[in-house]
This record gives sequence, C-alpha cells and structure tokens, in this order.
Amino acid sequence: MSFKNVDYTSLDIPAAPFSDPSIIPHFAHGKVPRHVGVIMDGNGRWAKQQGLVRTEGHKAAEPVVFDTIAGAIEAGVRYLTLYTFSTENWNRSPSEVRFLMGFSRDIIHRRVQQMNDWGVRVRWAGRRPRLWKSVIDELEDAMEKTKNNKVIDVVFAINYGGRAEIADAAAAIARDVRDRKISGDRVTEKMIQEHLYNPDIPNVDLVMRTSGEMRTSNFLPWEIAYSEFDFEPELWPDCGREVLWRAIQKYTERNRRFGKA
Ligand code: IPE
Ligand code: IPE
Ligand code: MG
Repeated sequence: MSFKNVDYTSLDIPAAPFSDPSIIPHFAHGKVPRHVGVIMDGNGRWAKQQGLVRTEGHKAAEPVVFDTIAGAIEAGVRYLTLYTFSTENWNRSPSEVRFLMGFSRDIIHRRVQQMNDWGVRVRWAGRRPRLWKSVIDELEDAMEKTKNNKVIDVVFAINYGGRAEIADAAAAIARDVRDRKISGDRVTEKMIQEHLYNPDIPNVDLVMRTSGEMRTSNFLPWEIAYSEFDFEPELWPDCGREVLWRAIQKYTERNRRFGKA
C-alpha cells in the first residue's frame, strides 16, 4: 500500500498527512482489530473549556476525524465506524442540530476527494427518516464515487440508533415473511445480521470512546455484542491517531475468549 503519489499539502483543507513509517507502532502480527468503532465524544466540553460555543467544538473535531482515519489506515484497520450523529442527538437545541446536519453535509462534500485518494470506501449506517436530504445526497454521492476502494471502509453512523437498526431489521424480516420469502417460525441470528444496515461488514472488534464517559449510547448494540471496550479520557478535539494507536495497542494485549474456557 502506498500513498506516496498523493500531495496532501496541496489540498485546500486541513491536512492529515501520513506518518513517517518510523513512528507507526508495530502491532503484534495478526492482532490489529479488523473493525474499530469510535464514539467521538467531548466536543461540547472541549468548547466550554476554551470559553467557546459548542459548535466550535464540532469544528475542532473535523481534523481529528481525518487524522484518526489516516491513523487507522496506517495501523491496518480494515473497517472504521465513526459515531457522528445519533437518533438521540435530535433532542439537542435546534441550532446545534442544524449546525451538525449542515456541517456533516459539508465535510463529506469537501473531503470526498481526499478520502478517495486515500483509498477510503465511504459507507453510511443510519435511518433515512428525519435525516436531511442534502446529507443523504452527499453520502450517496461519496458512496458511489468511492465504491471500488479497498484500503479501508469508513462508516459514518449518521442518524444512527442501535435499537432503531434492530427494529428496522425486524420490520424487514416481517415483510419477507408476509411476502412468503421466508417462513416466520424460524428467525435466526444470521437472518437478523443479514437485515442490518450493512450486512457485509464484520462485527466490531474494538470500541473506543473518548471523553471518559463509560457507556455505549445506543452505538451498534448487535455488532458490539462481543467487542472489546476502551475508554480514553481525552475530549475528542484533543485526540488524534496516537489515541487510536494507544487503544489498538491495549487491544492487542487482550485475551478474547468468546465464551470458551
Ligand atoms: C460528540 O461531542 C459529538 C456529537 C455527539 C455530535 P458532544 O457534542 O457530545 O460533546 P459533549 O459530550 O457535550 O462534551
Ligand atoms: C454519542 O454521544 C453520540 C455520538 C458520539 C454521535 P452523546 O454525547 O450523544 O451521548 P450521551 O448523551 O453522552 O449518552
Ligand atoms: Mg457527548
């Protein structure tokens, strides 16, 4: 894998250049988590600390998101899910919600070329109802443009709720039963997995949450049933790839048993 042909500094956006190979940690062979989920938390508290309004914290999060994607690529992570906007985040003030919608739309638009250059396949996990059409349009455009990329899949969880995802899967199964595509008396785990938003994506190996909060906040309940958890104290705008690498390093030292003795 090589990124040498891309001049990141020429892009008119905050750069997230790739690291000097000598600083990338050498993780134990075969131990890097295939799928990492990140609950990017603490933007509002970061802004408050700086005496700024909450939306300034969200703005400060953007370069951290792309630094983290770069760091995930360098570490060899194959799937990265970023919790960007939850179904519960609609309960924030209308002005913050409006900002988050517009900002998400603009980031995807501004960054799609960079992600494409990096070999990122953009994906989306979430519900359509309520989500701004302009956000869906940018996501669909980015997914189409990057669909053949194979370095890393980056899943933006936007208008995502885990219970909503399971309810949507159940509704889809019920439709299949009604249409006699499947018989209703045998609903299997595999069937539910196949009706999730992105059935091809493997379950999450590692969940990292920043800002010291220790909860999952409706993030991928099905997919994290056997994940390892890592809670980092830094607020998201203070993070970057080294925080992800620290979490991965701890993960490589864990012993996953999956119920076996
Ligand atoms: C995470 O930061 C970003 C989103 C949930 C959109 P917060 O906005 O939750 O920041 P805190 O938790 O209030 O500090
Ligand atoms: C979770 O963070 C959602 C995202 C990071 C997008 P929240 O800040 O919304 O979660 P709670 O309210 O602390 O549980
Ligand atoms: Mg929060």
